[in-house]
Amino acid sequence: MLDQLKANNRAWAKRMVSADGDFFKRLERQQAPSYLWIGCSDSRVPANEIVGLDPGELFVHRNVGNLAPPQDANYLSVLQFAIDVLKVQHVMVVGHYGCGGVSAAVDGKRRGLVDHWLHPIREVGHTHRHELDAIPEQRARLDRLCELNVLRQVRNVASDVFVQDAWARGQAIQVHGWVYSLSNGLVKDLNTTIGRPEELERLG
Ligand code: CO
Repeated sequence: MLDQLKANNRAWAKRMVSADGDFFKRLERQQAPSYLWIGCSDSRVPANEIVGLDPGELFVHRNVGNLAPPQDANYLSVLQFAIDVLKVQHVMVVGHYGCGGVSAAVDGKRRGLVDHWLHPIREVGHTHRHELDAIPEQRARLDRLCELNVLRQVRNVASDVFVQDAWARGQAIQVHGWVYSLSNGLVKDLNTTIGRPEELERLG
């Protein structure tokens, strides 16, 4: 199986070079992506492919449930590097419908460490329990929780000191909330883009 992957890799590298002889040499010198993607680890949500971007164009952070927890050193390091060093202009939090992390957060089963990791999603569910309880169909209820989780993580990113400091010094950064649909491959923009501190305050 792994031999196949290595053969795939050689074929891919060859294709890239035949399309653009300097491709890897250019990437080696510098990466200058304009976007930071914060998405779910789910294998069905491959960041670059979905938005048609080549290597070097998208800085990517993925974890189970596309979370941006304010105490997570991994996420915070990625965010700071993206903003302070790479100077990305857009941060997109990208959830997806049918997310196993989101359903595991609220199904009441014990799984161990991941229950701690998913706790923020449980909190989002609790905060919006009246809206969610009013949705009779379970799949639709979970899909709405996927959206609410993205909205919450967008607020986390926009509230972060790295983003706040960047705005204060005049650096343009927009934080977007998207949800990807496994069933048709399309991204839905939740129209929750935050590009200034005032827009964050308006969300409350
Ligand atoms: Co997921």
